[in-house]
Amino acid sequence: MQRIAIAGAGGKIASAVIEHYRQQSRIALLLVSSKELSVQTEGALVEIAHIPPQDFDGYKTALKEFKPNAIINTIGYTDVDGCETDRALAQMLNVRFPEMLARVARTFDIHLVHYSTDYVFDGSAGPYDETQIPNPINYYGKTKLAGENAIRSTGCAATIIRTNVVYGFGGTSKSDFVEWVIRSVTANIPIRAAVDQFSNPTYSGDLALATAKFVERRRSGLYHIGGADYCSRYDFARAIARAFDLRPDLIEPVTTQQLEQKAPRPLRAGLISLLAEAELGFRFSGIDEGLIAYRRTIESSLR
Ligand SMILES: NC(=O)c1ccc[n+]([C@@H]2O[C@H](COP(=O)([O-])OP(=O)(O)OC[C@H]3O[C@@H](n4cnc5c(N)ncnc54)[C@H](OP(=O)(O)O)[C@@H]3O)[C@@H](O)[C@H]2O)c1
Repeated sequence: MQRIAIAGAGGKIASAVIEHYRQQSRIALLLVSSKELSVQTEGALVEIAHIPPQDFDGYKTALKEFKPNAIINTIGYTDVDGCETDRALAQMLNVRFPEMLARVARTFDIHLVHYSTDYVFDGSAGPYDETQIPNPINYYGKTKLAGENAIRSTGCAATIIRTNVVYGFGGTSKSDFVEWVIRSVTANIPIRAAVDQFSNPTYSGDLALATAKFVERRRSGLYHIGGADYCSRYDFARAIARAFDLRPDLIEPVTTQQLEQKAPRPLRAGLISLLAEAELGFRFSGIDEGLIAYRRTIESSLR
């Protein structure tokens, strides 16, 4: 029986990880969230603990009682512009919280899986592989890099997964880029998308499968995970419109400068995933394939 604790279980990536595990036997999950969760299980044993990430003692007690083999940390302050203004919250969720989990993991010999971002790079020469030197240009990226380093400094067994532009069904925290495009264009609201911000969007189902394989193998290290297609936000928005039979003409191509976003964005960001693909033995989906899978999960949830 694998015992897996998921921190931040109400979020986007956590939802995909829970969906992956929920139908499996020989899995016991502890889902920790500040939100009220309800999960229909079909095999896995599930416990739910209602604890906000600010309550470090509450987290430590729950983990000591549950005795996990692995902790999957999906807590993060992911609002890139919000991180510029609420720096204390960004420090707390992106640095101090993972450091606290890493200390618990070190003490009790638990494998920690943690998610980081391509925004640790400056976006001058992406996509990036694991050997390239980070140089974050916004506060989100700075705190995410500090979080990685804080985990490493504890010496715990950790898998740090850098990913980018994750989309897929589930999560209650905030709307992601794909949800925003679908919601706006469905309501006939014109939107603007940057032609000069590049990434390789990642289907959350692939990320969940990769996470589970890392947990199963207790594989430590730094891995980049991104989808097969490297494209601009504008091209991605048009692909979303196509996949959901929406009007692509409502999407206006603009430059990042025109968007006047609070935090500077790494323009040529994105991640080279060859190491993870070789290690795990599968390829990550391109945007058309991922968006079709996403649409299928939405439609089957409505039945
Ligand atoms: N989504 C992406 O495109 C992406 C890309 C690269 C890296 N990542 C990294 O992957 C991890 C998970 O991302 P995600 O998209 O799944 O995150 P998310 O849904 O935005 O948030 C994950 C969890 O963090 C906690 N959280 C977020 N904002 C909070 C706030 N203001 N106050 C208190 N708690 C807050 C919540 O935990 P509770 O469940 O306890 O409420 C939330 O469910 C993060 O570390 C992120 O940096 C994500």
